Amino acid sequence: MSDPVTLRREGAIAVITVDNPPVNALKHAVRAGLQKLFKEADADASVQAIVLACAGRTFIAGADITEFGKPPMAPSLIEAITDIDNVSKPTVAAIHGTALGGGLEVALGCNYRVASKDAKLGLPEIKLGLIPGAGGTQRLPRLIGIDKALPIILSGNPISASQALQDGLVDEIIEGDLTAGAIAFAKRLASEQLSLKRASRMEDKLTEFRKNPEKFNEVAAKAVGRNKGLKAPMAAVEAVKMTLSVPFEEAIKRERNMFIELLVTDESKSQRHAFFAEREATKVLDMPADTKSREVKQAAVIGGGTMGGGIAMCFANAGIPVTLIETTDEFLKNGLAKIRTNYENTAKRGGMSEADVEKRMSLIKGAVGLEGTKDADMVIEAVFEEMGLKKEIFGKLDKITKKGAILATNTSTLDVNEIANSTSRPQDVIGMHFFSPANIMKLLEIVRGEKSAFDAIQTAITVGRKIAKVPVVVGVCYGFVGNRMLHRRGVQADRLVLEGALPQEVDAATLEFGFPMGPFAMGDLAGIDVGWRIRRARGERNEVADTLAEAGRFGQKTGKGYYIYEKGSRTPIPDPEVEKIILDASAKKGIKRRPISKQEIIERTVYPMINEGARILEEGIASRPGDIDVIWLYGYGWPVWRGGPMHYADTVGLKHVRDRLAHHAKELGDKSLEPAKLLDRLANEGKTFASLASEMKKAS
Ligand code: 3HC
Ligand code: NAI
Repeated sequence: MSDPVTLRREGAIAVITVDNPPVNALKHAVRAGLQKLFKEADADASVQAIVLACAGRTFIAGADITEFGKPPMAPSLIEAITDIDNVSKPTVAAIHGTALGGGLEVALGCNYRVASKDAKLGLPEIKLGLIPGAGGTQRLPRLIGIDKALPIILSGNPISASQALQDGLVDEIIEGDLTAGAIAFAKRLASEQLSLKRASRMEDKLTEFRKNPEKFNEVAAKAVGRNKGLKAPMAAVEAVKMTLSVPFEEAIKRERNMFIELLVTDESKSQRHAFFAEREATKVLDMPADTKSREVKQAAVIGGGTMGGGIAMCFANAGIPVTLIETTDEFLKNGLAKIRTNYENTAKRGGMSEADVEKRMSLIKGAVGLEGTKDADMVIEAVFEEMGLKKEIFGKLDKITKKGAILATNTSTLDVNEIANSTSRPQDVIGMHFFSPANIMKLLEIVRGEKSAFDAIQTAITVGRKIAKVPVVVGVCYGFVGNRMLHRRGVQADRLVLEGALPQEVDAATLEFGFPMGPFAMGDLAGIDVGWRIRRARGERNEVADTLAEAGRFGQKTGKGYYIYEKGSRTPIPDPEVEKIILDASAKKGIKRRPISKQEIIERTVYPMINEGARILEEGIASRPGDIDVIWLYGYGWPVWRGGPMHYADTVGLKHVRDRLAHHAKELGDKSLEPAKLLDRLANEGKTFASLASEMKKAS
C-alpha cells in the first residue's frame, strides 16, 4: 500500500499531503506519517515554511472511528499534533471539504489556516458521545474565545469558512487553487518573517472569562441546552473550563483521559453505532454494486394536503422543480398557499430570506389533473389513504408519465405490490414513505416492492439524500417498520392506562427514557379523531380514546385530548376529567386498577417494540438490526445516546428482554407479548443483534 502521507517541495516550501480515502481519517499510518514528515521538514534547513494539504474530497475528517476501542498505537494524535505545534517554522493548514474533529485539531496545531470558500470546520465529537480528545477543547477557545468555541464544541455542528474567517479560526479564504494559494500564503509568512501563531500559547482571549467565571457558567449552560445530564456535554464543559485555570500541557492530558473514559460509555457506543448504522442503511445487500440511479430533474407530487405540500417543499428546498397536483383549482390554491405560509413563517423567524421564499416558490408549479405529471422523472403520490383511489391513479399514471419515470407512493399502510400491479410497469413503482411534517422529518422509508427494479430503488435513495432525508430501504408489510413497531407500543400504553397508570405517568416515563414526547402527548398532537374514525369504520372500540373523541376531545386542535392545553400553548396539562374517564373505563371492563412502576411502563412499551423489530428481521422486512435503529432515531425521536431499539436491547441484554416479555405475557395473559422466535433464539445462544448483523453481513 502506498504511503498515505507524502512530502514534496515547492521551492522553499514543504508541502505535506495526506491521501487516505475516502475522508482522510487519521488512522495510525497517517498520524505516524504526519509526525515524521513535519519533523523532517523542520530539520531541513532549506525549508522555510510548511503547508499541510489533503488529496481527495476533503481535508482530514477526524480520527479513524473504526480504530476506537482497539489497542492504541503510538504515536497518539496528541503526540503527533504536539510535534506539529513545536515546529520552528511557519505551518499552514490548507482546508477544503470538511476539517472535522481530529482533523480540525491537526489544523489547530498549525500556526495558520487557509480554506476554500465552501469548506466547513467543526468538532463533531459530541455527536459520537465524545469530546475532542487531541487538544481541541484547549486550542479552539484560546484561538477564538470561549463564547465562540463552546457552541461549536457542544453542538458538534460545523461552521462555514466565512464564519470561521470572521471568528479568527481561518486566516484567509482562498479563491481558486487551494494548495497554490496556501503555498503563496506560506511564502509570504516566510518572507515577512511573521511570528509563529501558536494557539496553545495564546492567553489573551481567556482573560475576560478568567476574571468572571460566572459568565463562563452562563455561556456553558446556554450551549448545553437540553443535553444537560448527558456525559459528553458535561465533560466538554468541564474540559473547556480548564482553560480558565489549568496550564495547557496539563489540560490536554486531562482532556485525553476524559476522552478515553467517554469512549467506553454506553452513550458513546450507542452514538457511534448510530453513525455507522445510518451509513449502512442504504446498502441494499442484493443490489449489484454498479447499479446507477436514473436522472431526476423534474418531480411531481399528487395531492396537496398535509403530506404532499411538505414533500413538494423538500424538492424545492433541494433546487429540484416540482409540480403539485390537485383535483380542483381551489384545493390547489389552498395547497400552494399553505406552502407559502410555511416558508414565510420560516422567513419571519429568520430561517431564510424573502428572496429565498420566492426562489423556492418559483420551483413549485401547480396543476389540476394528472396530466401535470407527464414531464416528471419522479412522481410521488400523496392522496387519501384509499386503495381504490391509489390504484386508479397509478393506472392513469402508467399511461401519462414518461417511460422510466419513478412512480412512488407515500402510503403508510397499503400494499405497495398491489399498487404496483395496477400499472404495466411495476418495476418502476416503489414506496417513499415520508414522515409528518414531511419538510422537517429526516426519515424516509423506501419501500421496496417485490418487482421494484434495483435502479428504481437506487434512484429513490439518491433522491432521498438529495432532498436531505435519511433513507432506509424496507420491505412491504402493514405499517412497514416504524409504524408497525409503534403500534405495539400504542397497544401497551393503552392497556397500562386501563390497568392503573395515568397518561401523564406513561408519558413521564417515556420522557425520562429520552424520547422528546410520550405516546399520549403524541396522540394529542396527531389528533385522537383519526384513529377513532378508522375504528368506527371497522366496528372496533378503544374505550378511553373513543370516549375522549366522542366528547369532542380531539387533542391539541380542540384544546383538549388526553390533556388540556391553554390557549396558544402546546404544554400538556393533566386533566381530572380524563382521569375520571379512565377510571370509568377500567371499571366498565372489570379491571381492578393497581399501581404501575416506571420500570414496568418501560418494559411494557419499549420491549414490545424490540420484539416486533425481531419479527421484522425474521420476515426480512428490514435487512439489518441497524436499519431499524436508524428508523427510530430519525422518525420517532429515539434518543441517539441509546442507539435505537435494537442496539438498546443489546445493551440491556437480550436474555433480560426476552425473560421480561415472557413474564408480562404470562402475568397478563397477553399473547402479543410472547417473545419472538428470533429474540428467543438469540437469547438462548447468548447472542446480540450486533452479532446477528455480523452474521447477516458475512452470509450476504
Ligand atoms: N473514521 C472512519 N470512517 C469514517 C469516518 C471517520 N472519522 N468518517 C467517515 N467515515 C467513513 C464512513 O463510514 C463511510 O464509509 P462507507 O463508505 O464504508 O460507508 C465513508 O467514510 C464515507 O462517509 P460518508 O458516507 O459519511 O461521506 P459523506 O461525504 O457523506 O460525509 C463526512 C463525509 C462529512 C466527513 C462524514 O463522513 C462525517 O461526518 N464523518 C465523521 C466526522 C467525525 O465525526 N469526525 C470526528 C471523529 S472523532 C475524533 O476526531 C476524535 C478526536 O477528537 C480525537
Ligand atoms: P390529506 O387528506 O391531508 O391530503 C390528501 C390530498 O390529496 C387532499 O388535498 C386531496 O384533495 C388530494 N387528492 C385526493 N385525490 C386526488 C387526486 N385524484 N388527484 C390529486 N389530488 C388528490 O392526506 P395526508 O395526510 O397528506 O395523507 C396523504 C397520504 O400520505 C396518505 O396515503 C397517508 O396515508 C400518507 N401519509 C400520511 C401521513 C400523515 O401523518 N398525515 C404520514 C405518512 C404518510
